[in-house]
Amino acid sequence: MPLIKLMNVTKRFGKITALDHINLSIENGEYLCILGQTGAGKTTLLRIIAGLLEPDEGDVYIEGKRVNKVPPEERNAVYMFQQFALFPHMNVWENVSFGPVIKNWSKDRVKNVTSEVLEMVRLAERKNAFPHELSGGMQQRVALARGIASGAKILLLDEPLGALDARLRVDLRTQLRKLVKDQGLTAVHVTHDQEEALMTADRIVILRSGRIEQVGTPHEIYSKPQSIFVTSFVGGSNFLEGTVVEVNSSGSVVDLRGGLRIKVADTSRNIGERVVVAVRLEDVSIGTMEKLGENNLKGVIESTVFVGGSIEYQIRLKNHAVISSRILFSDTFKDFKPGEAVVISFHPERCYVFPYPRAGLLKEIEAI
Ligand SMILES: Nc1ncnc2c1ncn2[C@@H]1O[C@H](COP(=O)(O)OP(=O)(O)OP(=O)(O)O)[C@@H](O)[C@H]1O
Ligand SMILES: [Mg+2]
Repeated sequence: MPLIKLMNVTKRFGKITALDHINLSIENGEYLCILGQTGAGKTTLLRIIAGLLEPDEGDVYIEGKRVNKVPPEERNAVYMFQQFALFPHMNVWENVSFGPVIKNWSKDRVKNVTSEVLEMVRLAERKNAFPHELSGGMQQRVALARGIASGAKILLLDEPLGALDARLRVDLRTQLRKLVKDQGLTAVHVTHDQEEALMTADRIVILRSGRIEQVGTPHEIYSKPQSIFVTSFVGGSNFLEGTVVEVNSSGSVVDLRGGLRIKVADTSRNIGERVVVAVRLEDVSIGTMEKLGENNLKGVIESTVFVGGSIEYQIRLKNHAVISSRILFSDTFKDFKPGEAVVISFHPERCYVFPYPRAGLLKEIEAI
């Protein structure tokens, strides 16, 4: 039996449908990330699970029991606000131990739990400070510690790391996952950061305009994206427009116009169909000569950008389309300069093929 189950959950605010028939099961002990852009309905979904909002349609179950009318405090779930709130008149220690204290836990237990979570968020040394004496990021960590210390079985985390700087964010997200796993908790973690979701989640739910676009493990979401939106939102990609001109047992051929044709392993499209072929930046290799059996396209390096441990090249093809490639630095790394003539290649298996979207390609990838 799933720990949390949403069946056909719909929530409207006036004319806006914030959630549109959501069906989702969350297992006990699972670390689930809800990934979506601003306004996708992430907070609304968490608030419905927490009991702070009631769905207009559909049902919410926790441990098999319908909880639509059950108040938040009886759901064994703690909702951590996106705009966190601390008690201003209490110091860090008192804020964090608030939940355990009102639950009447023994003095020792309160002390142990409070110290443990303060260590975890690296604020043990600031336990006597008041919220106004802390930076925004520190306050966020206190709020996180307080939620965890309250002893709830279900953590509903709304952008819990949003206000923190990059380094701390990376450290904290792995610790957060470890804590949830060690303590046998269940987490529903809302984020708009794809990397955060890919690194922490057992499963990711991609939410888009109130609907579930795809659910899967990070690996599935990354390697088997089911839509242009997901391909673009998670991992990023090149998108090449074309028409299917041949389908056979080993794959299909897509005409990209301007005399360019590529081979894709996908055979699900029909001859004459207009399609979008997605190729991840890291799947595009660059060389000076053609490779055997791959899609080889001639082009000219247009620009380069350094991105940490890798370099991104933009290459203009014969049909004037620009394709990007991301190459990791390594011992065998060869740099290419703007203006240099190159041959790019990518494997037919690494091409994702989608029907051309009715509303246009840009609509699917805009604002990402
Ligand atoms: N109380 C409310 N009254 C009216 N509209 C609301 C209310 N709460 C949410 N909405 C609308 O519902 C939609 C979903 O909002 P929600 O807060 O769930 O998005 P979100 O995914 O959490 O976005 P963000 O990443 O910006 O926090 C938005 O269009 C929002 O304007
Ligand atoms: Mg939100």
